[in-house]
Amino acid sequence: MKKVITYGTYDLLHQGHINLLRRAKELGDYLIVGVTSDSFDRGRGKLNVRNNVLERVEAVKATGYADEVIIEDYVGQKIDDVQKYGIDIFAIGSDWVGKFDYLNEFCQVIYLPRTEGISSTMLRTKSTVNVRIGIIGCGRMAQRFPSEGKVVSGVSTSACYDVDAEALSIYAEAHGVKACNTIDELYNEVDAVYVASPHLQHYDNIKSALFAKKHVLCETPMVLNGTQANELYHLAEEQGRILMEANKTAHCPAFNHLMVMIKSGVIGEVVDIEASLSQLLDKNGREFDAAQAGGALNEQGSYPLLPIFKLMGLNYENLSIYSRMKNGVDIYTKGVMRYPRAVCSFKVGLGVKTEGNLVISGTKGYAYVPAPWWKTDYFELRYEDQNRNQKFFYKWDGYGLRYEIQEFISCIVNHRFSTARLRRRESIQMAAVMQQFAERKNFIEI
Ligand code: CTP
Repeated sequence: MKKVITYGTYDLLHQGHINLLRRAKELGDYLIVGVTSDSFDRGRGKLNVRNNVLERVEAVKATGYADEVIIEDYVGQKIDDVQKYGIDIFAIGSDWVGKFDYLNEFCQVIYLPRTEGISSTMLRTKSTVNVRIGIIGCGRMAQRFPSEGKVVSGVSTSACYDVDAEALSIYAEAHGVKACNTIDELYNEVDAVYVASPHLQHYDNIKSALFAKKHVLCETPMVLNGTQANELYHLAEEQGRILMEANKTAHCPAFNHLMVMIKSGVIGEVVDIEASLSQLLDKNGREFDAAQAGGALNEQGSYPLLPIFKLMGLNYENLSIYSRMKNGVDIYTKGVMRYPRAVCSFKVGLGVKTEGNLVISGTKGYAYVPAPWWKTDYFELRYEDQNRNQKFFYKWDGYGLRYEIQEFISCIVNHRFSTARLRRRESIQMAAVMQQFAERKNFIEI
């Protein structure tokens, strides 16, 4: 049996891809198609891919030409695959002529004629997608949004709104966007909103935007109450609009890769996760104001909860919360979560400094991610036999908001109400943890 392999991103699958796959299949008896993973594409600068890896895999399968679809995730994988799958022919479009000659050492390399006049890039540029985004809340958080949005295709930051007229005009001028004096004026200008107002306004802002039929990307913590979070996600679906919590870590390519690797068993069964994050901030900031729902858990909790929920799920049996309080806010909180066969803990601090790392312990080894693990660009897998230790390096571009903006647009374009990066149920559970804290359940002051 003659085995053929080919690779590609296959974004917005088009006739050029279909022709290529047909020709590749005709070269042999069995065709393997390597589809690039989202993180691999981002790593090589392809940031504007519209369909996520699952959608691209489905599109390739639907052509009927692939006998097997695999994921391409790292540089050098082609050599591994060719040997691993016993490949006879490596085929690729003629735009790559010469680039894969190095594979001649392992199999025959054939450059197939490329279909003229079409490409994913062309479709992305031509597509009429332009999601106009309005900023609600022109404070510190919102400052990074416009420049990050610029590197994602199909997005423009076009207007802003803030209850504070001065903050509004400063922001509008600094970023060249329209200042709207009322929220309704903003809704008339945009298709979606980025909510970066103070925490306690999120709920009302999201609700009003959804009723105005706008998609919503809301800064984390989205809300501080599980019931409210649940209600908002239901409302979004009823309104046919996307609601997404903007948790940077959830969209970080390296973090996602780490999660996938651990789920695939590289450190065995996970029995313990410790995640910490602390930041000594100006004591006069809103982070220390109880009336504005400040405090370490509200400010930072959604980050350490993320790896715990992603890896252990949401069905913990018990959560004990230990906090040092000052003027009504927690300046330090430690949470201990008991799962049926694991124990996880997290530490967050605004007035206490601690080592900020993520350690995931398993039956075969552990993963170590140094600070700032919440914008992961490096991690290690460590084993008893140190020769097996592995270090992984990645790129973290800009402020990292581009990754979540890109996923937000992809969800809008593809009508996906939930993203695998941060499931709605995970976001709801994060809010439920903050609610447990607010209700002082299973809570001990230290
Ligand atoms: N391909 C082709 N004819 C086209 C476009 C792509 O034969 N008009 C081939 C490529 O040569 C490659 C495969 O399809 O072998 C997958 O290419 P991919 O990079 O996913 O598609 P492009 O449309 O070229 O994407 P982009 O514009 O993002 O580079």
